[in-house]
Amino acid sequence: MKNIKAIIFDAYGTLFDVNSAAEKCKDKIGDKWEGFANYWRTTQLEYTWLRSLMNRHKDFWQVTEDSLDKSMKAFEIDTSMKNELLDLYKVLSPFKEVPEVLKTLKEKNYKLGILSNGTPSLLNELVKSNNLDNLFDDIFSIEEVGIYKPDSKVYEMPIKKYKIQNEEVAFLSANTWDVSGGGNYGYSSIWVNRNNNIFDNLDYKPKLEIKNLKDLLPNINSN
Ligand code: LAC
Repeated sequence: MKNIKAIIFDAYGTLFDVNSAAEKCKDKIGDKWEGFANYWRTTQLEYTWLRSLMNRHKDFWQVTEDSLDKSMKAFEIDTSMKNELLDLYKVLSPFKEVPEVLKTLKEKNYKLGILSNGTPSLLNELVKSNNLDNLFDDIFSIEEVGIYKPDSKVYEMPIKKYKIQNEEVAFLSANTWDVSGGGNYGYSSIWVNRNNNIFDNLDYKPKLEIKNLKDLLPNINSN
């Protein structure tokens, strides 16, 4: 991929492992922890899309809590675990290659940003707790535009800030619908397919598919 000026990352699921909160409680939750984590994530995303369609915005932290309440009921998890799960969600772990790859990209002088549904304070805490805060030029939160991905207003934020062309953004997401959202907006979207998933049929095919962030390095160029 040539002429890339900015590398923009989705946060949840791409840089940070959304299942890590439930995984850290697997001794208490038992074998169902993974099904529960997937259900929580799916419900959380559904709520973002539904709230955008209904024009009833609530921020990502509230949506995360609302979806957790439903998921805990669905999986019969004791309500006493709620605060522990929420606290762990604030300090999700990054995937293991993330810090090193970000440092290498930073040295190559790309603009590096996060573009996420998360609130500014959630995202700041997440990067700080993982010592990644000095690696990003910008953290773009959908709270600035008040609507969730994949609305175009979200993907427009880095374009306006950096005054570059849509295709000069390499946008990385592990969420297939987000890859399509960014791609349909005009980004050069890259799918981080960590788990051998199947891509969506949403009129966009990723410019590149990689297994983890390390595979990005030999594949992009700023000229
Ligand atoms: C985000 C969600 C989509 O970080 O993962 O925006």
